[in-house]
Amino acid sequence: MSTLRSAVPDLTETPRLPVVHEVAEHLQRTPRQLPTHYLYDRLGSTLFEAICHLPWYRIATVEQQLLATHARDIHAIAGPVGVVVELGPGSGEKLVTLLGARQRAALQVRLIDVSVEALEQASRALGAVPGLDVQLARATYEDGLAQLAHAPSVDQTLVVFLGSNIGNFDSADADRLLRAMRTAVGPGSSVLIGADLVKPEAELLLAYDDPLGVTAAFNRNLLVRLNRELGADFDLGGFAHRAVWNAGASRVEMHLVSLRRQHVCLPSAALELTFEAGESIWTERSYKYTAGQLRDMLARAGFGVAAQWERDGFALTLATPSRPATTSDQPTHDH
Ligand SMILES: C[S@@+](CC[C@H](N)C(=O)[O-])C[C@H]1O[C@@H](n2cnc3c(N)ncnc32)[C@H](O)[C@@H]1O
Repeated sequence: MSTLRSAVPDLTETPRLPVVHEVAEHLQRTPRQLPTHYLYDRLGSTLFEAICHLPWYRIATVEQQLLATHARDIHAIAGPVGVVVELGPGSGEKLVTLLGARQRAALQVRLIDVSVEALEQASRALGAVPGLDVQLARATYEDGLAQLAHAPSVDQTLVVFLGSNIGNFDSADADRLLRAMRTAVGPGSSVLIGADLVKPEAELLLAYDDPLGVTAAFNRNLLVRLNRELGADFDLGGFAHRAVWNAGASRVEMHLVSLRRQHVCLPSAALELTFEAGESIWTERSYKYTAGQLRDMLARAGFGVAAQWERDGFALTLATPSRPATTSDQPTHDH
């Protein structure tokens, strides 16, 4: 069996500049924020892969185990899929596990990710799986799904969304994203969602504030990126990583906390900000669910759950369309 490859876009080092006005607008919110996907420049993606090897970040290993155990069931339920789309594949190792267990030989694979590093890693990893025609798209989930909806495949499609990527979205945005998936796939298609479940606070906090400081480096690298790409002057020593469990909202939050009163300039946005001691920038939300909440979210978006597997506080859910897509399912760009 030979490996098929379509023309791959040039992914040499061409940093996708964070959009200045979006960064400026987020930094002026109350509380101050930064868009989460900016965490993933080359170094950010490399640090995330290191996080996946930490013993305290169980999502990566548990989901791999679930996929290794249930890959054949997933293929049996999904049926004769011709296209697999993965949103935010990271290293691509999980897709290798899933596709390595398939029966059908030729398969089109589309990888959608904002990170050049992730697309390159995933593309390399999938090189080990025969029979794949791999296409890479450097895009947000929303833009990638909108493109799919615009030019739908005639083949049955499996959309894969792993690593609890869904948890980075507030409830209304997660609903919109799932509806965009519903719009992007035709009848007979399916979606596979991996999501982290609620677990004891101490366990959650260790996963997002590890004793080696890798997650802290991942979070603080966002400031390195803004300094490099936007000419900001964040003093790295002036901000500390903090992870918080917000029980009321059922999410872990990552923050960068100002250690003193300080000023930060973002000249490209003609912005000067004053941070008080203890004031923070909220950089990531990671919602934790129950298995039932995941089924409800999928139902709201027009999917019925075909199978759900749980292990060690993590769930893999395979769902298929339960009704035709409606106009209210249209993809959104406003996250
Ligand atoms: C938490 S990592 C998970 C990676 C992989 N799914 C896994 O389970 O190991 C999130 C991945 O999605 C990408 N990503 C994050 N936010 C994104 C967005 N809004 N649109 C597209 N890609 C995004 C990141 O670059 C990264 O590769």
